[in-house]
Amino acid sequence: MMSYRFSDRMRRVPESFLGELFRVSNDPDIISFAGGLPSSAAIDVEGITAAAKDVLENEGRRALQYTNTDGFLPLREYIARRYRERLKIPATAADIQIVNGSQQCLDLVAKILVNPGDPVGMESPGYLGAIEAFSLYEPEFHGVPLGNTGPDPDAFAALLSSRPLAFFYGIPNSQNPSGTTYSDTMRRAVARMCEDTGTLFYEDDAFGELFFDGKSRPPVKKYAPEHTIMSGSFSKIVAPGMRIGWLFAPEPIIHEFNVAKQAADLHSNFLCQMILHRYLETHDLDVKVRRVAGVYGENCRLMCDLLDDAGLLHTTPSGGMFLMATLPPRVAAMDVFSAGIREGVAVLPGVPFYVNGGGEDTIRLNFSTATEEEIHEGMERLVRVISGLA
Ligand SMILES: Cc1ncc(COP(=O)(O)O)c(C=O)c1O
Repeated sequence: MMSYRFSDRMRRVPESFLGELFRVSNDPDIISFAGGLPSSAAIDVEGITAAAKDVLENEGRRALQYTNTDGFLPLREYIARRYRERLKIPATAADIQIVNGSQQCLDLVAKILVNPGDPVGMESPGYLGAIEAFSLYEPEFHGVPLGNTGPDPDAFAALLSSRPLAFFYGIPNSQNPSGTTYSDTMRRAVARMCEDTGTLFYEDDAFGELFFDGKSRPPVKKYAPEHTIMSGSFSKIVAPGMRIGWLFAPEPIIHEFNVAKQAADLHSNFLCQMILHRYLETHDLDVKVRRVAGVYGENCRLMCDLLDDAGLLHTTPSGGMFLMATLPPRVAAMDVFSAGIREGVAVLPGVPFYVNGGGEDTIRLNFSTATEEEIHEGMERLVRVISGLA
């Protein structure tokens, strides 16, 4: 038998629930609030088919050829224009690098900024995909507790002034997993503290377009442009399978990032970039985003009401796809996970989201994929499971 030798860094990646999650999401008897997919019903298959046909028929040879690492210029111009119009930030195409979904930013940003043992700050709880991506570069994680309006200000200030971080990673809009949105005061305070301490803030904006009230919030990047790198994505607003996201960052970072991106994959799928751009040119993205956010908002309100009825504490998101609930005393999230599967409802235990431990009494619930009927039925099962364990 061949014994395969893997690098030490592979041992740093926390175990993922993904295998188990895929199994439960394919089981028709299980209602899953555990996944993180946007609604399939919201994907405009017809519109994307027409855009694909148009690109292949009219520019097929170009679209199927190699291209530059930066990404398709008209698509980068579209993204920059949207920042200028929607958030009033002076972005240009030169500030934008196209990537294979914003998940690739997590990998490449850590690759260019983190040496083994370097301190990286992040919210606690934090995005699991970021913990996994950063772990490969062997940082020392420092979690800052996340409250209802953003990271705990004292803990945040203490961390930033205690040591030079490689960066602090945060999700100010409808955070995954908690659903928390930073207040404007907190955004300004984070920006100021980053400027005062020379800290780089990595602002992951995967959900910034998905506020239920349709209003955008000013990003930290607006208050501290030189100290903030921002990632964005078309996954939640057009289609995740296209794997198109971007990095918006100051020139020296874009430059290094581009070198790392070229070494990793030469460039992102050019055909998809052209199809996406053609689609965006011929459709009003705002209309589509409003419709998706409207449905998510209704689902979220329903889930929050049902949690209230059951007397369970929970976050109350104003956007995004997730909320977090707190379990009654002595009920462990891992037990809710296992008993939930037997009862036909899947949730995600909070533990893996905490880089420095904790979260044993929390679960993450996704509200973007289930129908109203499934939310009613799934929550009934969940409440039964929790009551049985209490
Ligand atoms: C906070 C956050 N960042 C990044 C991603 C990665 O998304 P994508 O690579 O599809 O842009 C996700 C996916 O769910 C996410 O929740």
